[in-house]
Amino acid sequence: ADVAHGAQIFSANCAACHMGGGNVVNAERTLKAEALSAYLADYNADHEAAIAHQVTNGKNAMPAFLGKLNDTDIADVAAYVEDMASKGWA
Ligand code: HEM
Repeated sequence: ADVAHGAQIFSANCAACHMGGGNVVNAERTLKAEALSAYLADYNADHEAAIAHQVTNGKNAMPAFLGKLNDTDIADVAAYVEDMASKGWA
């Protein structure tokens, strides 16, 4: 996956709600590693697949990106989120 392309996808589609790996809608559900591990279904089994699944399908107040982003875009943004989470979004 192309992490640099994922960063562009994130800026355009995710940062409005998740700037800096946070969450302006539901403050506990951040993109930090601890929150992903605690709240994101199947994250502990496969980090990028779990992020990609949530982006594709959405959840509660988060919109689904199926039909808005293609599979490559979703894989790239998932790789970017995982890379940033592994670094603590620093
Ligand atoms: C949760 C990624 C766009 C609102 C999450 C989670 C991930 C994620 C991985 C799980 C976090 C956790 O459970 O701790 C992304 C990506 C996006 C995106 C990569 C862009 C492609 C958005 C947008 C919004 C949003 C635009 C607001 C309109 C939310 C909300 C949750 C969430 C409210 C919590 C859902 C719940 O568990 O009830 N997001 N997101 N997200 N996101 Fe996004």
